[in-house]
Amino acid sequence: MPAQVDGRVDERIQNYTKFWQKDITKDDKADTDNRVDSYTDVVNGYYDGATGLYEFGWARSFHFCRFYKGEAFQAGLARHEHYLAAQMGLRPGMRVLDVGCGVGGPAREIARFADVRIVGLNNNDFQIGRARKYTKQAGLEKQVSFVKGDFMKLSEQFGENSFDAVYAIEATVHAPSFAGVYGEIMKVLRPGGVFGVYEWVMTDAWDPSIPSHKDVARRIEIGNGIPEMRPLQQAREAMREVGFTVEHEEDLADRPDDVPWYYPLEGDIMKAQTAWDLLTVWRSSWSGRIVTHYGLWFIEQLGVVPKGTWEVGETLKIAGDALVDSGKTKLFTPMYLAVCRKPETH
Ligand SMILES: C[S@@+](CC[C@H](N)C(=O)[O-])C[C@H]1O[C@@H](n2cnc3c(N)ncnc32)[C@H](O)[C@@H]1O
Repeated sequence: MPAQVDGRVDERIQNYTKFWQKDITKDDKADTDNRVDSYTDVVNGYYDGATGLYEFGWARSFHFCRFYKGEAFQAGLARHEHYLAAQMGLRPGMRVLDVGCGVGGPAREIARFADVRIVGLNNNDFQIGRARKYTKQAGLEKQVSFVKGDFMKLSEQFGENSFDAVYAIEATVHAPSFAGVYGEIMKVLRPGGVFGVYEWVMTDAWDPSIPSHKDVARRIEIGNGIPEMRPLQQAREAMREVGFTVEHEEDLADRPDDVPWYYPLEGDIMKAQTAWDLLTVWRSSWSGRIVTHYGLWFIEQLGVVPKGTWEVGETLKIAGDALVDSGKTKLFTPMYLAVCRKPETH
């Protein structure tokens, strides 16, 4: 497939929504199996289209976080990253792998916060290019680097026992199986090394035999480039199955927060916690969505963004609604935190 100079591939962006039947309320196993088998095309098609929109509408850290009352959006994102680093016990000088690193927002923040060296791994060329550019601008190239690779083949790329610590923020949900990616993380960690993850899972309250529960999971998938949403229990079992000792686990979305994690997606500007955040929240409001809808269509016609970007943008609206719905009903969490250790004797 011919790629643009920046790494994006028009054809795979245009093919992205074809991985889901138009009637997303139908539960089609063959459709799911096809996405799982084609996970690289699903994920790259999605991120080639969605990365610019994430940066425009969210931040350079592509994840959710908890919010304190009055806390600025960017501060909340950074605190979530610091919390993970602190829970993992990252120490100065450690060699750390960021699995599914996006455009490197978390890697730059954690490198500064914990004084560690980070390698960011990503399978998306466009995002790697952005990550390198921002890291150079930040003057962090000696501490933070980026490589292209598939997190299902980590040991092939890095060799066994090569990192003191590994973390993954809202990325391993894109894997064809939890055990597959966690098993690879286990291999590249040195014995005694630590793995910290914020995982996207359906909570124990989710029952796939209930059509509305199944529907919300499908909407989360199509809106976020996820082959298949899975229950929390499956993530927990996979960690143990591959040999990790789970030292700490917690669903941070279950904390009794006054300001819920999904508030920026509700589009209610009255809920913005600071004046600057008005813009971020407005983009999810009905008027913000209209502006993005027509604006994106227009710039796609002009050739400013690759063909197919507008259609991926449409799926982001499905995502936003599904995440708010499932957040309110607590059927889904984007922040199931687990801190796992590789046994010394492994
Ligand atoms: C929601 S983004 C999170 C990015 C980053 N952790 C952050 O918080 O900003 C998910 C990331 O996982 C990456 N990813 C998905 N599947 C991957 C794979 N098989 N191998 C490597 N990276 C992958 C995507 O390209 C994307 O950068």
